[in-house]
Amino acid sequence: MARTDPPAAPPATDLDALLAVLDALPARIQAELAGLGTEAAVRDAQARALKGPIAEGQAAIRQAPGPTRRTIGAALNKAKTAVEAAAAARLQALAREALDAELRRQIDVSLPGRAPRPGHLHIITQVRRDIVDIFRELGFEIAEGPQVETDFNNFEALNIPKDHPARDMQDTFYVTDDVVLRTHTSPVQIRTMLRQQPPVKVICPGQVYRRDDDPTHSRMFSQVEGLLVDRDVSMADLKGTLLHFVRRFFGPGVKLRFRPSFFPFTEPSAEVDMSCIFCGGKGCRLCKQSGWLEIGGSGMVDPEVFKAVGYDPEAVTGYAFGLGIERMAMLRHGVNDIRLYYEGDVRFLRQF
Ligand code: PHE
Repeated sequence: MARTDPPAAPPATDLDALLAVLDALPARIQAELAGLGTEAAVRDAQARALKGPIAEGQAAIRQAPGPTRRTIGAALNKAKTAVEAAAAARLQALAREALDAELRRQIDVSLPGRAPRPGHLHIITQVRRDIVDIFRELGFEIAEGPQVETDFNNFEALNIPKDHPARDMQDTFYVTDDVVLRTHTSPVQIRTMLRQQPPVKVICPGQVYRRDDDPTHSRMFSQVEGLLVDRDVSMADLKGTLLHFVRRFFGPGVKLRFRPSFFPFTEPSAEVDMSCIFCGGKGCRLCKQSGWLEIGGSGMVDPEVFKAVGYDPEAVTGYAFGLGIERMAMLRHGVNDIRLYYEGDVRFLRQF
């Protein structure tokens, strides 16, 4: 039978060297820890000490004969305990330093506070409210309708049949063949007249949608519609009302011009222009040298519309107009790109 030799004791010099290292370990680790300033660094140093000399000592134990084992074991335990105690002490010291620093921090309670910036209404909301308020002073009531509208209210009842070319200018998003995102606030005229008998005097603000996208046209924008139906309403009433409005909104000197136009739901129809507020009508870049700025469409309610809602075109007349709110805001505040309103950039929005 092969005889297994007892494990050889580590050579005396190796053993002495190991014991010397273990012996010196507490002082070494203490010196190292004193220079470390974070918990992570301390834990790291502790792990390195345990992995190095102490792991070496543990390996040596396994091979050493009995008495030597005890010597190494004792030195090992002492070193290990010392490393752990030193690390724990350093961690405690670091925690105390952090607390002291926190307590030493001076707070100047007399400094003024940092006030949170209050939010405010979007510029389009402000302008819409200003416009509506002016018409409310004149006795108009607010009427509203949904942004998802029937084809009937948005087109048919306004005398725009399915194949009418006027639909091209107001191409929109179709939800189904008979339901659309409304292209103007004019369907609120229809809703209002279907709901009540004359006289009618309403202002209808709201969002509308079209297949447009350029610096002066956005896929979504806002209009205010005006509708007045009564006995003997004339174009003079329309003109007087709009003149009052632009002067209240833009300033007393503003002039108005009605340019013949066509809308299927008004007859006669007119485009409404106001004298250019930037050059006073002399002609500039913003009015394209014409002296005039277009602000909306208008006209006398077409008898076909009255028939569609069951009003008697022989008994009543009426006027209607539609103004672009973004356009008003652009003119009043000198904004040259409609898309800025909807990009949500607070650097732009907080100016108003
Ligand atoms: N609805 C028309 C448009 O959006 C404007 C308008 C309203 C014209 C009322 C006449 C009367 O273009």
